Amino acid sequence: MEGPARKIVVLGTGGTIAGTAPDAGDHVGYRAAQLGVAALVAAAAGGTWLPSWQLETEQVAQIDSADLTHAVWQLLVRRAAAHLARDDVGALVVAHGTDTLEETAYLLHRVLAPAKPLVLTAAMRPATALQADGPQNLNDALTVAAESGARGVLAVIGGQVFAGAELRKQHPYRLDAFGAGDAGALGAVEQGTLRRWREWPSGAPLGPQVVEREVRSWPRVEIVTSHAGSDGRIVDALLAQGVDGLVVAGVGNGHVHTALQAALARARARGVAVALTTRCTQGVVVGATDDAGALTPVQARVELLLRLLAAPPEPG
Ligand code: SIN
Repeated sequence: MEGPARKIVVLGTGGTIAGTAPDAGDHVGYRAAQLGVAALVAAAAGGTWLPSWQLETEQVAQIDSADLTHAVWQLLVRRAAAHLARDDVGALVVAHGTDTLEETAYLLHRVLAPAKPLVLTAAMRPATALQADGPQNLNDALTVAAESGARGVLAVIGGQVFAGAELRKQHPYRLDAFGAGDAGALGAVEQGTLRRWREWPSGAPLGPQVVEREVRSWPRVEIVTSHAGSDGRIVDALLAQGVDGLVVAGVGNGHVHTALQAALARARARGVAVALTTRCTQGVVVGATDDAGALTPVQARVELLLRLLAAPPEPG
Protein backbone atom coordinates (compact mmCIF):
# COMPACT_ATOMS: atom_id res chain seq x y z
CA MET A 1 0.00 0.00 0.00
CA GLU A 2 1.24 3.46 -0.82
CA GLY A 3 2.15 5.75 2.06
CA PRO A 4 0.40 9.07 2.63
CA ALA A 5 0.98 11.67 -0.11
CA ARG A 6 3.80 14.03 0.77
CA LYS A 7 2.88 17.58 1.46
CA ILE A 8 4.10 20.92 0.20
CA VAL A 9 3.40 23.65 2.73
CA VAL A 10 2.81 27.09 1.21
CA LEU A 11 3.52 29.94 3.63
CA GLY A 12 2.04 33.36 2.90
CA THR A 13 3.71 36.59 4.00
CA GLY A 14 1.94 39.18 1.80
CA GLY A 15 3.54 41.17 -1.03
CA THR A 16 2.32 42.16 -4.47
CA ILE A 17 1.54 38.53 -5.23
CA ALA A 18 -1.28 39.00 -2.70
CA GLY A 19 -2.00 42.58 -3.79
CA THR A 20 -5.16 44.05 -5.29
CA ALA A 21 -5.94 47.21 -7.26
CA PRO A 22 -9.31 48.78 -8.13
CA ASP A 23 -8.22 48.95 -11.80
CA ALA A 24 -6.95 45.85 -13.63
CA GLY A 25 -4.57 48.01 -15.67
CA ASP A 26 -2.86 49.42 -12.59
CA HIS A 27 0.50 47.82 -11.81
CA VAL A 28 1.73 50.42 -9.34
CA GLY A 29 -1.21 52.00 -7.49
CA TYR A 30 -2.29 48.82 -5.70
CA ARG A 31 -2.27 47.63 -2.12
CA ALA A 32 0.06 44.73 -1.39
CA ALA A 33 -0.86 41.94 1.03
CA GLN A 34 -4.64 41.80 0.61
CA LEU A 35 -5.35 38.16 -0.36
CA GLY A 36 -4.74 35.18 1.87
CA VAL A 37 -2.34 32.44 0.86
CA ALA A 38 -5.16 29.92 0.35
CA ALA A 39 -6.64 32.23 -2.31
CA LEU A 40 -3.23 32.47 -4.02
CA VAL A 41 -2.95 28.70 -4.15
CA ALA A 42 -6.50 28.44 -5.51
CA ALA A 43 -5.62 30.96 -8.26
CA ALA A 44 -2.58 28.82 -9.14
CA ALA A 45 -4.85 25.83 -9.86
CA GLY A 46 -4.21 24.43 -6.38
CA GLY A 47 -1.30 22.37 -7.59
CA THR A 48 -3.70 19.93 -9.24
CA TRP A 49 -1.05 18.93 -11.77
CA LEU A 50 1.00 17.45 -8.90
CA PRO A 51 -1.18 14.43 -8.08
CA SER A 52 1.23 12.82 -5.64
CA TRP A 53 1.44 15.94 -3.48
CA GLN A 54 -1.03 17.54 -1.10
CA LEU A 55 -0.87 21.26 -0.45
CA GLU A 56 -1.24 22.86 2.95
CA THR A 57 -1.23 26.61 3.56
CA GLU A 58 -0.32 28.85 6.47
CA GLN A 59 -0.50 32.64 6.70
CA VAL A 60 2.67 33.62 8.57
CA ALA A 61 2.35 37.37 7.95
CA GLN A 62 0.39 39.76 5.74
CA ILE A 63 2.68 42.69 4.95
CA ASP A 64 4.12 44.80 2.19
CA SER A 65 7.70 43.53 2.35
CA ALA A 66 8.98 47.11 2.49
CA ASP A 67 7.71 46.91 6.08
CA LEU A 68 9.53 43.66 6.84
CA THR A 69 10.64 43.45 10.47
CA HIS A 70 13.04 41.24 12.39
CA ALA A 71 10.00 39.88 14.25
CA VAL A 72 8.50 38.64 10.96
CA TRP A 73 11.84 37.03 10.08
CA GLN A 74 11.95 35.31 13.46
CA LEU A 75 8.41 33.97 13.00
CA LEU A 76 9.09 32.87 9.42
CA VAL A 77 12.23 30.98 10.47
CA ARG A 78 10.32 29.31 13.32
CA ARG A 79 7.42 28.22 11.10
CA ALA A 80 9.67 27.13 8.22
CA ALA A 81 11.88 25.10 10.58
CA ALA A 82 8.84 23.47 12.19
CA HIS A 83 7.38 22.41 8.81
CA LEU A 84 10.74 21.26 7.45
CA ALA A 85 11.12 18.99 10.47
CA ARG A 86 7.84 17.19 9.68
CA ASP A 87 8.17 13.74 8.08
CA ASP A 88 5.06 14.26 5.98
CA VAL A 89 6.36 17.52 4.49
CA GLY A 90 8.60 17.24 1.45
CA ALA A 91 8.97 20.91 0.55
CA LEU A 92 8.06 24.48 1.44
CA VAL A 93 7.01 27.37 -0.77
CA VAL A 94 7.02 30.92 0.61
CA ALA A 95 5.01 33.65 -1.12
CA HIS A 96 6.74 36.98 -0.34
CA GLY A 97 7.00 40.56 -1.56
CA THR A 98 9.66 41.18 -4.18
CA ASP A 99 11.13 44.29 -2.57
CA THR A 100 13.07 42.59 0.23
CA LEU A 101 13.03 39.08 -1.20
CA GLU A 102 16.82 38.97 -1.55
CA GLU A 103 17.24 39.69 2.17
CA THR A 104 14.80 37.00 3.29
CA ALA A 105 16.25 34.51 0.80
CA TYR A 106 19.77 35.13 2.13
CA LEU A 107 18.61 34.89 5.75
CA LEU A 108 16.78 31.58 5.18
CA HIS A 109 19.80 30.18 3.32
CA ARG A 110 22.24 31.06 6.09
CA VAL A 111 19.94 29.97 8.92
CA LEU A 112 18.27 26.87 7.47
CA ALA A 113 20.11 25.73 4.28
CA PRO A 114 17.64 22.81 4.31
CA ALA A 115 18.04 19.38 2.78
CA LYS A 116 14.46 19.79 1.53
CA PRO A 117 13.59 22.53 -0.98
CA LEU A 118 12.41 25.86 0.39
CA VAL A 119 11.22 27.82 -2.63
CA LEU A 120 10.47 31.54 -2.43
CA THR A 121 8.23 33.14 -4.98
CA ALA A 122 6.70 36.57 -5.58
CA ALA A 123 5.07 38.70 -8.24
CA MET A 124 5.69 42.06 -9.85
CA ARG A 125 2.01 42.65 -10.64
CA PRO A 126 -0.93 42.49 -8.25
CA ALA A 127 -3.32 39.56 -8.36
CA THR A 128 -5.97 41.76 -10.02
CA ALA A 129 -3.80 42.67 -13.04
CA LEU A 130 -4.97 41.69 -16.53
CA GLN A 131 -1.89 39.55 -16.86
CA ALA A 132 -0.96 38.81 -13.28
CA ASP A 133 2.36 36.96 -12.95
CA GLY A 134 1.69 35.60 -9.45
CA PRO A 135 -0.29 32.47 -10.37
CA GLN A 136 2.34 31.36 -12.91
CA ASN A 137 5.19 32.11 -10.53
CA LEU A 138 3.47 30.13 -7.78
CA ASN A 139 2.86 27.24 -10.21
CA ASP A 140 6.52 27.28 -11.21
CA ALA A 141 7.60 27.40 -7.54
CA LEU A 142 5.42 24.36 -6.79
CA THR A 143 6.93 22.55 -9.78
CA VAL A 144 10.44 23.16 -8.43
CA ALA A 145 9.37 22.24 -4.88
CA ALA A 146 8.06 18.90 -6.18
CA GLU A 147 11.19 18.16 -8.23
CA SER A 148 12.95 14.98 -7.18
CA GLY A 149 16.28 15.78 -5.50
CA ALA A 150 15.57 19.50 -5.11
CA ARG A 151 17.15 21.02 -2.01
CA GLY A 152 18.12 24.29 -0.39
CA VAL A 153 16.74 27.81 -0.48
CA LEU A 154 15.64 28.75 -3.99
CA ALA A 155 13.71 31.58 -5.59
CA VAL A 156 11.47 31.08 -8.61
CA ILE A 157 10.18 34.13 -10.45
CA GLY A 158 9.70 35.11 -14.08
CA GLY A 159 10.35 31.53 -15.21
CA GLN A 160 13.84 31.55 -13.70
CA VAL A 161 15.20 29.61 -10.74
CA PHE A 162 17.85 31.21 -8.54
CA ALA A 163 19.88 30.11 -5.55
CA GLY A 164 18.38 32.14 -2.71
CA ALA A 165 21.76 33.34 -1.49
CA GLU A 166 22.58 34.81 -4.91
CA LEU A 167 19.27 36.50 -5.59
CA ARG A 168 19.15 40.24 -6.25
CA LYS A 169 16.32 42.50 -7.31
CA GLN A 170 17.61 44.53 -10.22
CA HIS A 171 14.57 46.18 -11.77
CA PRO A 172 11.68 48.03 -10.08
CA TYR A 173 8.98 47.15 -12.62
CA ARG A 174 9.80 44.48 -15.21
CA LEU A 175 8.41 40.95 -14.79
CA ASP A 176 11.97 39.57 -15.02
CA ALA A 177 13.11 41.84 -12.20
CA PHE A 178 15.56 39.40 -10.62
CA GLY A 179 19.03 38.14 -11.32
CA ALA A 180 21.92 36.51 -9.52
CA GLY A 181 24.82 38.73 -10.51
CA ASP A 182 27.73 36.92 -12.15
CA ALA A 183 26.42 33.57 -10.92
CA GLY A 184 23.36 33.67 -13.17
CA ALA A 185 20.26 31.55 -12.82
CA LEU A 186 20.35 27.96 -11.62
CA GLY A 187 17.66 26.86 -14.05
CA ALA A 188 14.37 27.69 -15.69
CA VAL A 189 10.83 26.35 -15.57
CA GLU A 190 9.46 25.86 -19.05
CA GLN A 191 5.98 24.41 -19.68
CA GLY A 192 5.91 23.03 -16.14
CA THR A 193 9.30 21.34 -16.50
CA LEU A 194 12.49 22.33 -14.73
CA ARG A 195 15.61 22.66 -16.85
CA ARG A 196 18.56 22.97 -14.49
CA TRP A 197 22.16 23.74 -15.39
CA ARG A 198 23.74 24.24 -11.97
CA GLU A 199 23.86 22.24 -8.73
CA TRP A 200 21.26 22.76 -6.03
CA PRO A 201 22.46 25.17 -3.34
CA SER A 202 24.02 23.83 -0.18
CA GLY A 203 25.66 25.32 2.88
CA ALA A 204 26.32 24.85 6.57
CA PRO A 205 23.26 26.32 8.30
CA LEU A 206 23.62 28.37 11.47
CA GLY A 207 20.39 26.80 12.73
CA PRO A 208 17.09 28.45 13.70
CA GLN A 209 18.25 29.09 17.26
CA VAL A 210 20.48 31.91 15.94
CA VAL A 211 17.40 34.14 15.52
CA GLU A 212 15.74 33.13 18.79
CA ARG A 213 17.06 36.06 20.81
CA GLU A 214 14.37 38.56 21.88
CA VAL A 215 14.03 40.80 18.81
CA ARG A 216 14.29 44.03 20.82
CA SER A 217 17.84 43.08 21.75
CA TRP A 218 19.02 42.16 18.25
CA PRO A 219 22.17 44.04 17.26
CA ARG A 220 21.68 47.23 15.30
CA VAL A 221 23.36 46.96 11.90
CA GLU A 222 23.19 49.83 9.43
CA ILE A 223 24.39 50.37 5.86
CA VAL A 224 26.47 53.40 4.91
CA THR A 225 27.44 54.21 1.34
CA SER A 226 30.63 55.81 0.13
CA HIS A 227 29.87 58.57 -2.38
CA ALA A 228 31.07 61.94 -3.61
CA GLY A 229 31.07 64.26 -0.62
CA SER A 230 31.09 61.49 2.02
CA ASP A 231 32.28 63.08 5.24
CA GLY A 232 31.69 60.30 7.78
CA ARG A 233 29.29 62.36 9.90
CA ILE A 234 26.60 59.71 9.38
CA VAL A 235 28.87 57.21 11.15
CA ASP A 236 29.46 59.60 14.04
CA ALA A 237 25.68 60.13 14.33
CA LEU A 238 25.16 56.37 14.46
CA LEU A 239 27.90 56.01 17.08
CA ALA A 240 26.16 58.63 19.18
CA GLN A 241 22.85 56.72 18.90
CA GLY A 242 24.40 53.30 19.44
CA VAL A 243 25.21 50.87 16.64
CA ASP A 244 26.72 47.38 16.67
CA GLY A 245 27.57 46.77 13.05
CA LEU A 246 28.12 48.78 9.89
CA VAL A 247 28.06 47.54 6.32
CA VAL A 248 29.95 49.83 3.99
CA ALA A 249 28.84 49.91 0.37
CA GLY A 250 32.11 51.06 -1.12
CA VAL A 251 32.65 52.43 -4.60
CA GLY A 252 34.07 50.16 -7.30
CA ASN A 253 36.22 47.40 -5.87
CA GLY A 254 35.26 48.34 -2.31
CA HIS A 255 37.09 51.68 -2.11
CA VAL A 256 35.95 54.09 0.58
CA HIS A 257 36.22 57.91 0.76
CA THR A 258 39.10 58.83 3.10
CA ALA A 259 36.76 60.89 5.33
CA LEU A 260 34.42 57.92 5.69
CA GLN A 261 37.42 55.64 6.31
CA ALA A 262 38.46 57.86 9.21
CA ALA A 263 34.97 57.68 10.71
CA LEU A 264 34.92 53.88 10.28
CA ALA A 265 38.25 53.67 12.10
CA ARG A 266 36.61 55.56 15.00
CA ALA A 267 33.72 53.08 14.88
CA ARG A 268 36.05 50.06 14.93
CA ALA A 269 37.90 51.56 17.88
CA ARG A 270 34.55 51.65 19.70
CA GLY A 271 34.01 47.91 19.02
CA VAL A 272 31.63 48.28 16.08
CA ALA A 273 31.89 45.43 13.55
CA VAL A 274 32.48 46.71 10.01
CA ALA A 275 31.91 44.72 6.81
CA LEU A 276 32.83 45.96 3.36
CA THR A 277 31.13 45.33 0.05
CA THR A 278 30.59 47.24 -3.17
CA ARG A 279 27.75 49.44 -4.31
CA CYS A 280 28.28 48.05 -7.85
CA THR A 281 25.27 46.01 -8.95
CA GLN A 282 27.36 43.15 -10.37
CA GLY A 283 30.57 41.40 -9.36
CA VAL A 284 32.38 40.98 -6.07
CA VAL A 285 35.10 42.90 -4.23
CA VAL A 286 38.18 41.26 -5.73
CA GLY A 287 40.75 40.45 -3.06
CA ALA A 288 38.26 40.98 -0.21
CA THR A 289 39.25 39.41 3.09
CA ASP A 290 35.61 39.24 4.15
CA ASP A 291 32.77 37.13 2.65
CA ALA A 292 30.57 40.24 2.67
CA GLY A 293 32.46 41.46 -0.40
CA ALA A 294 30.53 38.96 -2.53
CA LEU A 295 27.14 40.07 -1.23
CA THR A 296 24.80 42.93 -2.06
CA PRO A 297 24.82 45.59 0.69
CA VAL A 298 21.45 44.41 2.03
CA GLN A 299 22.58 40.79 2.08
CA ALA A 300 25.88 41.80 3.69
CA ARG A 301 23.76 43.45 6.38
CA VAL A 302 21.97 40.13 7.00
CA GLU A 303 25.33 38.34 7.14
CA LEU A 304 26.75 40.79 9.68
CA LEU A 305 23.53 40.71 11.73
CA LEU A 306 23.68 36.90 11.89
CA ARG A 307 27.39 36.98 12.79
CA LEU A 308 26.63 39.31 15.68
CA LEU A 309 23.62 37.24 16.77
CA ALA A 310 25.76 34.09 16.69
CA ALA A 311 28.60 35.69 18.66
CA PRO A 312 28.70 34.85 22.36
CA PRO A 313 27.38 37.76 24.47
CA GLU A 314 29.98 40.15 25.90
CA PRO A 315 30.75 39.33 29.55
CA GLY A 316 29.27 41.68 32.12
C1 SIN B 1 6.36 43.97 -1.53
O1 SIN B 1 7.57 43.79 -1.66
O2 SIN B 1 5.70 43.47 -0.58
C2 SIN B 1 5.61 44.83 -2.48
C3 SIN B 1 6.22 44.86 -3.83
C4 SIN B 1 6.26 43.54 -4.52
O3 SIN B 1 5.97 42.48 -3.98
O4 SIN B 1 6.63 43.58 -5.73
